[in-house]
Amino acid sequence: MSEQLRRVIYVSEKVGSSEHDVADIVKASNKNNPSKDITGCLLKGKNSFLQILEGPSDAIEGLYKTISEDNRHTNVKRVCDEPIDKRLFSDWSMKSDNYNQMEWSDSALNAGNFVNISADAAKNIFTRISEQGESSFCGISQ
Ligand SMILES: Cc1cc2nc3c(=O)[nH]c(=O)nc-3n(C[C@H](O)[C@H](O)[C@H](O)COP(=O)(O)O)c2cc1C
Repeated sequence: MSEQLRRVIYVSEKVGSSEHDVADIVKASNKNNPSKDITGCLLKGKNSFLQILEGPSDAIEGLYKTISEDNRHTNVKRVCDEPIDKRLFSDWSMKSDNYNQMEWSDSALNAGNFVNISADAAKNIFTRISEQGESSFCGISQ
């Protein structure tokens, strides 16, 4: 029997300017995530990151710990942690998006502020992005 799949979504506050940070993060993700069978999506908002990590439970916990100790962000807060049967981003070692191509009903989200996001809102965002498919989003496919 294969290990239980797990989904963690967290929000964090960016530290400093992050244009090349994101490129570096995606590079590290593309290098490290496939061997751990981890997939996901990283959104860079105005002041914050919102990331979904999906994969085997222990691997997700290990990566979450590594990420939460990274000084490119702070106040890392888990908004969702649940067992799943099916991934939202199975084709991406880490999809990346600037989060500026969709309209949201919540003004804070439109401004790229994820800090007080609820679990439902976070899941809704990633569900919509995964349903958009690759055609309308820029990102680095792996
Ligand atoms: C917002 C954010 C998201 C990150 N996501 C990942 C990730 O999905 N996979 C990963 O390996 N590293 C990720 N990192 C980077 C890790 O914190 C760490 O720097 C990296 O895993 C170290 O990789 P290395 O040992 O290969 O140098 C992320 C960092 C930040 C700030």
